[in-house]
Amino acid sequence: MGVLGLICLVCISILVRTGEAEKKSFLIDCGTNSTINVNGRSWVGDMVPDNNVTLGSPGIAALNDTASESSIYDKLYKSARVFPENSNYTIPVDPGNYFFRLHFHPFSFENYNMSESLFDVTANSLKLLSEFSVIGEISWRKPNSLSLVKEYFFNVISNEIVIRFTPTKGSFAFVNAIEVIPVTNKLFEDSVSKVGGNGAKSSLNLVGLGIETMYRLNVGGPELLPNQDQNLSRSWAQDFNYMFIPMDGSEMRNKSTISYSSTNDSLIAPLQVYETARSMVNAEVLEKRINMSWKFDVDPNFDYLIRLHFCELQYDKANQRIFRIYINNSTAAQNFDVFVRARGMNKAYHQDYLETLSSQIKSLWIQLGPETAAGAAGTDALLNGLEIFKLSRNGNLAYVSERSGPSGSAGKGKTTTSWILWLGIGAGVASTAFLAALCTLFFCLCKRRRKMCRTKTNPSGWRPLSLHGSIVNSTTDAKGSKLLGGNPNLNGSMVSIRTGRRFTLAEIRTATNNFDESLVIGVGGFGKVYKGEIDDGILAAIKRANPQSEQGLAEFETEIEMLSKLRHRHLVSMIGFCDEHNEMILVYEYMANGTLRSHLFGSDLPPLTWKQRLEVCIGAARGLHYLHTGAERSIIHRDVKTTNILLDDNFVAKMADFGLSKTGPSLEHTHVSTAVKGSFGYLDPEYFRRQQLTEKSDVYSFGVVLFEVVCARPVINPSLPKDQINLAEWALHWQKQRSLETIVDPRLEGNYSPESLKKFGEIAEKCLADEGKNRPTMGDVLWNLEYVLQLHEASMRRKVSNDSFSSCSVPGPGTLEEGEEVVREPSKSM
Ligand SMILES: *[C@@H]1O[C@H](CO)[C@@H](O)[C@H](O)[C@H]1NC(C)=O
Ligand SMILES: *[C@@H]1O[C@H](CO)[C@@H](O)[C@H](O)[C@H]1NC(C)=O
Ligand SMILES: *[C@@H]1O[C@H](CO)[C@@H](O)[C@H](O)[C@H]1NC(C)=O
Ligand SMILES: *[C@@H]1O[C@H](CO)[C@@H](O)[C@H](O)[C@H]1NC(C)=O
Ligand SMILES: *[C@@H]1O[C@H](CO)[C@@H](O)[C@H](O)[C@H]1NC(C)=O
Ligand SMILES: *[C@@H]1O[C@H](CO)[C@@H](O)[C@H](O)[C@H]1NC(C)=O
Ligand SMILES: *[C@@H]1O[C@H](CO)[C@@H](O)[C@H](O)[C@H]1NC(C)=O
Ligand SMILES: *[C@@H]1O[C@H](CO)[C@@H](O)[C@H](O)[C@H]1NC(C)=O
Ligand SMILES: *[C@@H]1O[C@H](CO)[C@@H](O)[C@H](O)[C@H]1NC(C)=O
Ligand SMILES: *[C@@H]1O[C@H](CO)[C@@H](O)[C@H](O)[C@H]1NC(C)=O
Ligand SMILES: *[C@@H]1O[C@H](CO)[C@@H](O)[C@H](O)[C@H]1NC(C)=O
Repeated sequence: MGVLGLICLVCISILVRTGEAEKKSFLIDCGTNSTINVNGRSWVGDMVPDNNVTLGSPGIAALNDTASESSIYDKLYKSARVFPENSNYTIPVDPGNYFFRLHFHPFSFENYNMSESLFDVTANSLKLLSEFSVIGEISWRKPNSLSLVKEYFFNVISNEIVIRFTPTKGSFAFVNAIEVIPVTNKLFEDSVSKVGGNGAKSSLNLVGLGIETMYRLNVGGPELLPNQDQNLSRSWAQDFNYMFIPMDGSEMRNKSTISYSSTNDSLIAPLQVYETARSMVNAEVLEKRINMSWKFDVDPNFDYLIRLHFCELQYDKANQRIFRIYINNSTAAQNFDVFVRARGMNKAYHQDYLETLSSQIKSLWIQLGPETAAGAAGTDALLNGLEIFKLSRNGNLAYVSERSGPSGSAGKGKTTTSWILWLGIGAGVASTAFLAALCTLFFCLCKRRRKMCRTKTNPSGWRPLSLHGSIVNSTTDAKGSKLLGGNPNLNGSMVSIRTGRRFTLAEIRTATNNFDESLVIGVGGFGKVYKGEIDDGILAAIKRANPQSEQGLAEFETEIEMLSKLRHRHLVSMIGFCDEHNEMILVYEYMANGTLRSHLFGSDLPPLTWKQRLEVCIGAARGLHYLHTGAERSIIHRDVKTTNILLDDNFVAKMADFGLSKTGPSLEHTHVSTAVKGSFGYLDPEYFRRQQLTEKSDVYSFGVVLFEVVCARPVINPSLPKDQINLAEWALHWQKQRSLETIVDPRLEGNYSPESLKKFGEIAEKCLADEGKNRPTMGDVLWNLEYVLQLHEASMRRKVSNDSFSSCSVPGPGTLEEGEEVVREPSKSM
């Protein structure tokens, strides 16, 4: 305790220090006696003499030359100071506002494995961290990262900042670097609108309140590093990972000269933040009745300040883009018109909201959606940046209670998921209550094992997400890649778990043998499709976008968006994607039997039987019917053709390729090079004439598919005589004369029942009706095709029973009743 006196003397000498020193920043590299330069900023070692920083008990200076991740702070993270006992840094400052950052990069030094540290940190009287596990926080927030920066903002009323490290009993504390940045401009207003408070301002008294930065995002743009935010050295992460449905918003960029709407705002955010934005995805086919939604894991029982950054980059007048802002599912702002609020185009503007979270809530939703009252023109939204700040309560910013349950730390998350899965499978049809009870029990158990769980690392970063069936990104840093797990649907089947996985580029390279050309199974305007092997030998089709293709990005986005929303037996499902290093890679289930087209003509594959062809058509029709009616909004496929109908190892047909946009030129960017013509052969003439896309355009294309299936020839074949070039015209010509059998695939001869072909031809003909309104719906088509199959099977049964013993007649599975009807129907229609 003799040291104490000495330290006090030092402290006093600092306190007595004259106040003329102007506000300056302190960049402290802990555990070293050297001064290093990182990205233009000089970091002074905490052992450098006369550095004006006082260390309480010296602790242990830890060095590790091997500790490195390719971060800009590499050099900084090679040293740390370990505190086996209470200690502190005292930094002389002038009263005022400061950003304060603690850098953590755990490594092992002597007997100190920093991954196992557990400690408290306070700054002056503000509690920042409590029983804090660096590794627990990393696996929760940035599962693939090796380091963590905690950022705070507070007002200092004395002449120093004392940062106290208090190890939890039996453990120790550490820190790699400390930043203290004075903030001279006003960064936060005193009063802020409270969400749901009808615009009433709620007073936010900053003095004495501590703020922790939870999230800071450059929406729709790249990550911004500290050196790109010169004055305050803030980092701005990408927002993509936090979007509920990542591709509900499309990125927007306009590097016009942007300026702050108020000159006082120059420190609010760097202008780069305002140069990029996210607006609603431009898929006309999906009316813009969607919300762009971001979801953030937060600590319950705190107030949050939500700062939204806006800048209208596109419209030069008011009333062009009007939207609503929802926070925590309640309306924060209505009739929001950035142009009006910012007083012009290219004006950087921000808006703050205050949100109080109740005790149970661990996530915060931010949604921008259409202004319901506004006309169609006003159904777009825009967001350029987003910050979420946690506000202290009673001098405390630390979240002490357990991160359990759905927002649990990664290590625990994995255990929980597999347990629930295991329980679910084991319990079979067990009631929800039973499962819920088990889960609760498990969470409790887990809670008891908290410390153990907390300090466990888990590189894969599994976390169960309690979101209904979409690709959901949870908290991860922009660079991070991780598994995204859907949560088991406790009241439904365990099979309906929806997952979308973010693959790392390394995983994709392994899966495709570094994009081995011999594994290419398809080539198109979009790029190449590889056959790959993921995980334990699971086959996958890996579609890699051509980086040059501008079109590719839109298609990639649309496809992810579509596929993350849709799951159906007759739609090809997406396993995941990879967007690292500007790659656009989609990973699908592997369809062993390739395209329907390859089984019809142009290959050596054995021909499909009539029954197989009917079943394939029925499967595809089911998929399309689901697209048109099954989802919340009707979805038009727009590129129905035999190369987009894929067959799995059991010849179950699945619709593929949801990525195409509707505009003319993009149709050239489809698959195989012949597809340009092919696609035209399928195009709805009414769509050409009226430029109106409806589900009936898919019905038309599907009609062409039906004829292609029965005739087994390309839809456009320029080498044929003029009247035969276009299959749709040629087949219709024969169908209208009721003699489709003339042009039927010769390999089907004797294989089909005439009445089923007759009915089949009628369906196809109806699909090709000139006007959409005269075409059947996909539902009708589906029903009729099933009927055709029954006709065919009934006739085959009759044939069998005529040929052999009548007792052999076996009714088709599940079609008994209709089967009887079938037998009558042919005579009726003859
Ligand atoms: C810095 O520390 C190293 C070893 O810890 C020592 O060898 C060196 O002399 C020190 N340098 C200064 C300038 O104190
Ligand atoms: C310490 O403070 C003194 C006086 O304010 C200043 O001259 C000196 O540069 C400071 N040292 C460092 C390393 O910042
Ligand atoms: C700093 O730490 C030392 C050593 O633990 C202690 O004696 C001293 O009281 C602390 N100072 C403050 C201001 O907490
Ligand atoms: C440096 O840290 C790494 C990772 O924690 C560890 O494996 C290695 O042993 C450490 N080296 C030294 C010299 O402590
Ligand atoms: C440090 O602790 C972590 C977590 O307990 C463990 O995974 C890691 O292997 C340890 N590292 C060393 C070098 O002991
Ligand atoms: C921010 O930093 C730049 C460059 O250092 C400087 O020109 C500008 O005045 C600073 N802005 C404020 C508000 O301090
Ligand atoms: C800028 O801040 C000053 C002082 O806080 C205030 O008087 C002035 O009105 C502000 N200017 C604008 C454009 O908001
Ligand atoms: C970019 O901004 C300019 C004016 O600042 C505008 O004329 C142009 O249309 C904008 N571009 C886009 C794509 O919005
Ligand atoms: C958008 O989100 C809000 C709040 O969750 C919800 O009330 C509203 O219905 C949503 N709008 C749409 C179009 O989904
Ligand atoms: C907020 O809305 C989302 C989807 O719109 C929903 O999943 C979530 O449960 C809602 N949260 C609350 C607290 O109502
Ligand atoms: C939403 O806000 C209301 C009122 O402020 C609060 O009672 C509720 O718990 C909040 N819900 C969430 C999800 O934060």
